[in-house]
Amino acid sequence: MQKKIALVTGANRGIGFAVAKGLLQKGITVIASARTDEKAKVTKENLSSYGDIHVYPLEVTQLPSIQKAVQYVHNNFGQLDILINNAGVNYDTWHHVQNADLEEVRQTFETNTFAPWQLIQNFLPLLKKSKAGRIVNVSSGSGAFSSQNGQTPGYSLSKYALNGLTLQFAQALQRDGILVNAVCPGWVRTDMGGSGAPRSPEQGADTIIWAALLENSGPSGKFFRDRKEVSF
Ligand SMILES: NC(=O)c1ccc[n+]([C@@H]2O[C@H](COP(=O)([O-])OP(=O)(O)OC[C@H]3O[C@@H](n4cnc5c(N)ncnc54)[C@H](OP(=O)(O)O)[C@@H]3O)[C@@H](O)[C@H]2O)c1
Repeated sequence: MQKKIALVTGANRGIGFAVAKGLLQKGITVIASARTDEKAKVTKENLSSYGDIHVYPLEVTQLPSIQKAVQYVHNNFGQLDILINNAGVNYDTWHHVQNADLEEVRQTFETNTFAPWQLIQNFLPLLKKSKAGRIVNVSSGSGAFSSQNGQTPGYSLSKYALNGLTLQFAQALQRDGILVNAVCPGWVRTDMGGSGAPRSPEQGADTIIWAALLENSGPSGKFFRDRKEVSF
């Protein structure tokens, strides 16, 4: 059987790196994307002992960059089985909804919401060639309806919208057998989460990997933390 092919965005550090490593350890062929050639090269070196690793430079907010990545995957693999929308930015603790700098908020949405949207749109033809297409949107508890309390407004609303996008694509792709889910990794020790976070990147990656490898009969259009459904 042909090995599954996964693409992970923002795989050069943090949770994305741990997801790429975990998928490699499960025998998946991984395309780890990082923003630049240099970061992609280092990522390849760091992951080379774990399995069949490929890297590609991908700036997720730039359509031409996405289109080049699609062409690369098409030419080298012919299909994509798993898309992990992991790249994310700007946990804006310095903002309140009343005083948020909306230009900064727009930038946050570019990476956290519009980029996953554009990535899914562009990779869909390759995902539809898979017999077990999976899309995992790395979200956050901050994106839950009950978390919309005025704090971290740019980040929280960008993930709230990402959750909505997850529902929309899950419905739209039902007939194609592509399962689309959102995952909260918990509070994780990364550059974003900070050194005081309780979880390791590997712990944060666990449910993301699990959602990437769901059986064909598995759930779609759900939000998970610790492999359990949580409220959107
Ligand atoms: N850490 C937590 O506690 C926590 C909690 C809930 C959800 N999350 C979510 O988990 C995901 C990963 O977070 P993390 O903690 O691992 O963050 P991180 O350590 O800050 O890493 C973020 C990753 O995203 C990449 N990235 C950002 N903007 C990009 C762009 N425009 N194009 C391509 N790559 C880009 C970064 O690349 P560069 O190295 O080039 O900047 C980096 O690889 C995010 O979606 C985050 O919102 C994290």
